[in-house]
Amino acid sequence: MSERTRVALIFGGQSSEHGISCLTAASVLKAIDKDRYDVHGVGITRTGRWTQVPLNVIEGYRIVDGEAPEVAEPEQDAVWMVGEDGCEVATRSGEQLVDIHGIDVAFALLHGPFGEDGTLQGMFEMMGIRYVGSGVTASAVGMDKHFMKVAFEAAGLPVWPYVTASAHRLKHHRRAVVDEVNRLEYPLFVKPARGGSSIGIVRITEPAQLDAAIDEAQRFDPKLVFEQGFVGARELEVAVLGDPDHPDGCRASVLGEIRVSAEDGFYDYEAKYFDEDGAALDAPAQVDDELAAQISELAKRAFHAVDAEGLVRADFFVTDEGAWINEVNTMPGFTEISMYPTLWQESGMTYPELVGRLIDLAMARPVGLR
Ligand SMILES: Nc1ncnc2c1ncn2[C@@H]1O[C@H](COP(=O)(O)OP(=O)(O)O)[C@@H](O)[C@H]1O
Ligand SMILES: [Mg+2]
Repeated sequence: MSERTRVALIFGGQSSEHGISCLTAASVLKAIDKDRYDVHGVGITRTGRWTQVPLNVIEGYRIVDGEAPEVAEPEQDAVWMVGEDGCEVATRSGEQLVDIHGIDVAFALLHGPFGEDGTLQGMFEMMGIRYVGSGVTASAVGMDKHFMKVAFEAAGLPVWPYVTASAHRLKHHRRAVVDEVNRLEYPLFVKPARGGSSIGIVRITEPAQLDAAIDEAQRFDPKLVFEQGFVGARELEVAVLGDPDHPDGCRASVLGEIRVSAEDGFYDYEAKYFDEDGAALDAPAQVDDELAAQISELAKRAFHAVDAEGLVRADFFVTDEGAWINEVNTMPGFTEISMYPTLWQESGMTYPELVGRLIDLAMARPVGLR
């Protein structure tokens, strides 16, 4: 009889970060303690179909010729069920269900919409299954750059000037939006409100570029956020881990820094995943103790500002005048070499320990309202 905790690793998904998610699954699978956890791979294809994926297939995921791996369209779909003994995942084979596994906890390694944004968390809540990371509200707020700023402002965190525009306002009141946006100082960052991995973000230096930037960003999300750009600011990041036994409710790692190579560049999709020379990651960052303490404190407040659970990576811009929160990610990049695990590694927690800690946190928390 197995006493091991049964973990569903969920990966792939319909967002543009599908391939990264597959790579993350391979990383986590390699690191997870197989004596403690019984792992089941559950992939979501780009078209949204679910499929059980054998562990040896997940282990084989890697970048080939610059192409990230992908969950293949299945011949047989996976289904989730809630029964007397809790939650199960199975494969539908014609009229039969085969390959049925009880699941104690879900670990969704999905980034972006339909995974990191509360939608999947809602499904877990409905099914009464425990899961790693933030709940519905925190996931949704952390995905939406507009509501995230509202939550940060309400918590008294420093937020840099920005303007939000819904699809409706952009369509029917475009001139008013443009006037409002042009009161910000250039350069500007035009961002899909519910994006990630820098996809669809456009940096512009003058008002003449605004219309084209709106069109480009709207290819990814009808709702946009316009932000005043920092020039020459440092980008510092902190990994925050839930800790219900600590009076603060969470702990902050050492700081990391992103140093983008190109002078007028930013930490874009290429630099994040494909261009090794695009950006350097320093972990730990070279910062004095006072700044480190200040940013750690802000990071923990940001964790609570969105009501996060489990983990967030909190990202800041820092100038001589101070620190401003950029965003939190409720499912940050999580391969072994990603910033979040690296910061914990530098803080004394290995990647396998971190994976175990997150699953144990999920197992320890009650289902339902908490
Ligand atoms: N207001 C800004 N000023 C300067 N650089 C920015 C600004 N906003 C974003 N960037 C750059 O763009 C990158 C991606 O933006 P971010 O808001 O973090 O989006 P994502 O959710 O896609 O990571 C940042 O890491 C940073 O390099
Ligand atoms: Mg970011």
